[in-house]
Amino acid sequence: MRPEHGRAGVGGHFDRTAAHADDFYLVVPVGRVGERPAGYHRHTRSARRYVPVALVKCVHRDGIIAKNAQRCAVFWCISAWRSVMMRVGGTMYRFGQAEVDAVAELATSQRLWRHMDGSRSSQFEHAFADRIGVDHALVMTSGTAALICGLVAVGVAPGDEVLLPAYTFVATAFAVMAIGATPVLVEVDESLTIDPEDLAAKITDRSRAVIPVHINGLPCAMDAIVDICRDRHLSIVEDACQAVGGTYRGVPLGSIGDCGAFSFNYYKTISCGEGGCLTTGSAHLYERARIYHDAGCAFFSPDQAVRTEYFAGANYRMSEILSAVLLVQLGRLDGILSDLRERKKTILDRFASVDTVRPAPVRDADGDCGVKTAFLLESTDAARSATRRINEARLCVTAECPLDTSRHVYVNWEAVLSGRSPLSSAIPGRRYAADACPRTLEHLGRTLNLIVHPDTDLRDLDRALDTVQGMLCR
Ligand SMILES: Cc1ncc(COP(=O)(O)O)c(C=O)c1O
Repeated sequence: MRPEHGRAGVGGHFDRTAAHADDFYLVVPVGRVGERPAGYHRHTRSARRYVPVALVKCVHRDGIIAKNAQRCAVFWCISAWRSVMMRVGGTMYRFGQAEVDAVAELATSQRLWRHMDGSRSSQFEHAFADRIGVDHALVMTSGTAALICGLVAVGVAPGDEVLLPAYTFVATAFAVMAIGATPVLVEVDESLTIDPEDLAAKITDRSRAVIPVHINGLPCAMDAIVDICRDRHLSIVEDACQAVGGTYRGVPLGSIGDCGAFSFNYYKTISCGEGGCLTTGSAHLYERARIYHDAGCAFFSPDQAVRTEYFAGANYRMSEILSAVLLVQLGRLDGILSDLRERKKTILDRFASVDTVRPAPVRDADGDCGVKTAFLLESTDAARSATRRINEARLCVTAECPLDTSRHVYVNWEAVLSGRSPLSSAIPGRRYAADACPRTLEHLGRTLNLIVHPDTDLRDLDRALDTVQGMLCR
């Protein structure tokens, strides 16, 4: 979504013309740059750039902005406005009047219950299942919930081991721990997806499932993973949270394993703010996930009778309002993907003949969502310094060294490394050393990711790439 300039801004600036829209918020610094609470992005190299800010609610009444503005939240924000846009507002999805209309229509319909006939949630599920090419889709509150339901569906139980890459958003590992199972960390290769060789080497008698993560919209080596899992009788729950719309050898991600988990949070190709979906081709797995996500089936309507025996569950039921948004968002997916891919191709073409930067290998370039363009540099120092220079230049292209992406790198997963879970007193955790996956750290450290919004003007991108090329080819 494009930021609403003027409605909020670092330094308390605002545009009075926006004030006629009743209430609005100012973001006001309330401390010095560098102050932050213990544990807050502790491992982010750029942490010194955080500043505590208060979100102040201002009330507009009859042309007068209320002086007794009420401070309603204090949180930590990145100090430069540009960086706020990059990290908080720097999303890739599009959001417009169609979503607003869909919500308005639903809000006045008195049909907010997910299990009503023709609900927005079931409409979305049918449309999404079609898109992914599976028989069943189950929309729910988040990608984490979808992973948990997928693991429950395939029968992962306390004490089982689940193998997953050492580079993914930490929620992948937390989903495993949430049901009392043990995450086993596997190296990623230069593509930054799970290394099939290391995966095979880490399987034990306690292994029950694998979570290949299509990180940054990049498909994993699914052929090799499927072969390994078939031989060793392991289930596959694909984490396609960052890869809505991606494919592997022409087959949609999320339809290759036993289940696929998707996220629609704010930093995804399509978004409703927070949301998720589980996909599967198996009626049995679908029923198990349905039972678990819906309070042990307590709220099934009679026409949704299941053959699977009920068991206790949680409540991850989706809001109808968010499903109404998702229905519209799904229609935007192809346009977003094609614009992301076009921009990625522009970047790759530009560096095709530059020796100092090698494009990172992609397991299936045609199925890549195009979210990020990765290059391999000669060292971590080179990747970090290129990242810093590109971001300081304030271009429409931003950069990141994945080693510095905080909660995506296993060394920053304190609770996972020390085996701390809500069930840890009942189940022995697994302890990891910070150097458990050295090759992952090496690959992450040498990678430079370039990121552009799908709406970036191609001429602006060209100009920005002139600058980036100058920096990388010195
Ligand atoms: C790879 C990956 N897995 C899981 C999740 C969890 O999704 P959610 O935030 O919707 O719970 C995310 C979210 O960003 C993710 O990127």
